[in-house]
Amino acid sequence: MGRGRPFFQRAVARRVFPCFLWSTMVIHDVIVVGAGLAGMRAAIEACRMGINVAVVSKVHPVRSHSVAAQGGINAALGETDSWENHMFDTVKGSDYLGDQDAIEVMCREAPEDIMELERMGAIFSRDDSGRIAQRPFGGAGYPRTCYLADRTGHSLLHVMFEQLVKYGAFIYKEWHVVKLVVEDGITRGIIAIDLSSGKLHRLHSKAVILATGGYGRVYSTTTNALTSTGDGMGLALNAGAPLMDMEFVQFHPTVLRRTGILITEGARGEGGYLINSLGERFMKRYAPEKLELASRDVVSRAEQTEIDEGRGVNGCVLLDLRHLGEEKINERLPQIRELAINFAGIDPVREPIPIRPGAHYSMGGIMTTVDGETPVTGLFAAGECACVSVHGANRLGGNSLLETIVFGRRAGRKAGEFAISSKLPEFPDSALVDAAHTIALIMNRDDGESLHSIRDELKGIMERYCGVFRNEEGLKKALEGIKRLKERYRNVYLTDRSHSFNMELTGILELGSMLDVSESIVIGAINRKESRGAHCRMDFPERDDKRWLKHTVVYKRDDRLTIEYKDVTITRYKPMERRY
Ligand code: FUM
Repeated sequence: MGRGRPFFQRAVARRVFPCFLWSTMVIHDVIVVGAGLAGMRAAIEACRMGINVAVVSKVHPVRSHSVAAQGGINAALGETDSWENHMFDTVKGSDYLGDQDAIEVMCREAPEDIMELERMGAIFSRDDSGRIAQRPFGGAGYPRTCYLADRTGHSLLHVMFEQLVKYGAFIYKEWHVVKLVVEDGITRGIIAIDLSSGKLHRLHSKAVILATGGYGRVYSTTTNALTSTGDGMGLALNAGAPLMDMEFVQFHPTVLRRTGILITEGARGEGGYLINSLGERFMKRYAPEKLELASRDVVSRAEQTEIDEGRGVNGCVLLDLRHLGEEKINERLPQIRELAINFAGIDPVREPIPIRPGAHYSMGGIMTTVDGETPVTGLFAAGECACVSVHGANRLGGNSLLETIVFGRRAGRKAGEFAISSKLPEFPDSALVDAAHTIALIMNRDDGESLHSIRDELKGIMERYCGVFRNEEGLKKALEGIKRLKERYRNVYLTDRSHSFNMELTGILELGSMLDVSESIVIGAINRKESRGAHCRMDFPERDDKRWLKHTVVYKRDDRLTIEYKDVTITRYKPMERRY
């Protein structure tokens, strides 16, 4: 490592932008990338082992996307409920693609994790007897979703940040990771850019945990924050770790007209109806038993069918809460009322809310074990960027926050144990020069392609050809389009050359991951010739367990994405027809 000419000479020879050379090297035992619920929970667990832990986040931790989670977190707390019921609902919701050993871990450990959150100081809404209140959610046989009104993520994220500070983790806020340093299959740390100064830094570690969230921003209508650009998935792919089940993208059934803002499933859990332009409660035709509380894939397809067949209202259907009354709306859904008034000019106390399906969640992600391990030594992942797989082809509402806590904790513990039992690997100084060179190439280009045109085109392609309904012809067009955009990306250039908070540069770095992630989604979707969960192929409308009860695994090799397959783990519940 550090072979050949001295570092500085090599850097000058490669026209590396000088600012990026004033770099520090810092050593930690475990570095967590991402400061949402999974990342902070992982870091807390690792800190509890008495080791040196850092959290690197491109935003301040309390601005992480987990803050936007509204409806709640699942756990079988009720006397008549059980972790087995929770497990069965989750397996069925996953359309039998979820790994049942992993689902069992999540559902068994959920109640204890909720109790721990409460001990940490999390506030939950209460029922009349003073216990943690639980509301019905889609695809669940019992009211199992614990919540704080419609601001559950906000409540949990702030508590987690307090704990992180209490445990003394190093927090690098507003630092964006440019490179995951892996050599000879061993993780050695990261290179990150401090957005406030534009300087690159080397963070050297024994273990790295990726907890960077989802990729919703590859679609034009999404509930996801601007920061949800699939960074961790892109870093993992480029470091040799595979992504799993990327073709499964969740479209949330209720996102606000034009904006994509989430209108929580809790609104239907509290009794809201979906109606079409004829005033018909159309879910009775699609899910006669569960109606609006069928699983999300079912409800989104029903809405899209109503819209496509001309029974929509300006490209939407309507979510009617009026019968709940002002008092209940103010108590249980105050944020929804505020959002509908502020962003659609509609007060749900008096008028139904125009909503439609929108990209919400990545069922797929970095392939991990139940302890967050990836196939790359010292590399772990947890939360939405990971695929354990507990959601299979479709996630149940309320299982995402749960996943962040259960698997964040487990990944933090495992990475901590790994760090305690291993030696610090060497950090190749070529990694910094490579990262600086990549940035210098972009910085030094005088003209070329603009970030915005490539990114907007990508979003349009994904929205048009890889949405709720898919077919071979559209998916192939999407793949051709993405490949063309990848070519253009080689020539992307900056109009802003400033060093401090150069968000155009950050956007370009993010776009690299968005392109890889989109291609992974599309190639998985082209190959999977069946319909399962959120992956609905109009040309292959049936689920085909004989050929397709298997996970898609995507690797990047020699700069090309390749697909392999992996068996699904089935323990308690044999696949059967899924009805709601
Ligand atoms: O609708 C919601 O509140 C979203 C919850 C979730 O995605 O788990």
